[in-house]
Amino acid sequence: MTPPLILGIESTCDETAAAVVVGGRRVLSSVVASQAEVHAKFRGVVPEVASRAHVEAIGPVLREALDVAGVALAEVDAVAVAARPGLIGSLLVGVTAAKTLAWALGKPLVAVDHVQAHLYSVALDADAEPARPGPGPGDTPRPGSAPGVDVAFPAVGLVCSGGHTALYHLGSWSDVTLIGSTIDDAVGEAYDKVAAILGLGYPGGPILDGLAATGDPAAVKLPRTLLGRESLDFSFSGLKTAVLYHVRGIPTRRDPRGSKPPPTAADVADIAASFQAACVDVLARKLRRAVGHVGARSVVVGGGVSANRGLRAALAAFPVPCHFPPMRYCTDNAAMIAGLAAVDLAAGRVAGLDLDAVTSSGIPRQVGG
Ligand code: KG4
Ligand code: ZN
Repeated sequence: MTPPLILGIESTCDETAAAVVVGGRRVLSSVVASQAEVHAKFRGVVPEVASRAHVEAIGPVLREALDVAGVALAEVDAVAVAARPGLIGSLLVGVTAAKTLAWALGKPLVAVDHVQAHLYSVALDADAEPARPGPGPGDTPRPGSAPGVDVAFPAVGLVCSGGHTALYHLGSWSDVTLIGSTIDDAVGEAYDKVAAILGLGYPGGPILDGLAATGDPAAVKLPRTLLGRESLDFSFSGLKTAVLYHVRGIPTRRDPRGSKPPPTAADVADIAASFQAACVDVLARKLRRAVGHVGARSVVVGGGVSANRGLRAALAAFPVPCHFPPMRYCTDNAAMIAGLAAVDLAAGRVAGLDLDAVTSSGIPRQVGG
């Protein structure tokens, strides 16, 4: 059987993306139209603004994904879409486009969980994606590529992004259960908020990651919230508040916003490095716990924060192999959606045209977990 050619669509949050992937691995195109600029002035995603931007972008993004891949719509074997979790207005744009295409082409529709797809992104082979004449809308040129990996199961998955920070047990790509998650902020959200406290841009993760390399990670003493001794859950809001108080001073009745003068550039670099060290420390320690609980043979990391240089460096000498996605598939993209869809398609898991967009993840929590 020839490997299926799958058109994937992603619109769960603030990126409109489409991709063509062969056999779940070979990425022929991956086009991402980011709305980061639109949301930057609000320092976060505004749902109504996001859904309107998706409506404007979805047509051109789909067309470009097919053009770059050199594929005609009629050649597509299945249409895949991230149908959950996400913002309802954003999800509806992608789900409606995917249903329309699947119906018009008479091809199967595959519904993918966005979080599960972040984990799968380590298996994507970025080498196949053709070099572009120039960057697409909101896209960046390919910084370098790595072949997708064959993951040894059982594995522990860590999804760390702006909306999620969670640990998973993976028996296979389709046998995934939740074993721990954040009880408050996601780690990417903490990066974005700390960047806002420091008066830096949005999204804050890449900016702080860059600054962290220039600062002293031991300069500011920041808390590591580990919760219970066995807990696989996360909490990042205390860390964020500790940074706030360090920067502004402890609020008093007289000075509810704190009274410290603004930090210097050198202070900002030290705070970035110390904050990053605390985040990475917590993520690595929880991963160690999870690997022990599960008896995992490997670790897969996905989501925007998997691009973090500090995290990659810290996990380089881990007891089991840790797999990270190619850089361009760390943040939201549709290649991971089309990739994971091949697993579902092979198993006959296809969706009906009555598919609904759902705001919550469909991954079950481990019983007793
Ligand atoms: O996966 P993603 O594109 O969207 C969500 O599903 O949330 O992740 C975006 C998040 C943002 O919070 C951004 O600040 C963070 O990923 N991020 C990073 C880095 N690159 C992106 N955080 C830390 N270090 C980075 N290098
Ligand atoms: Zn995501």
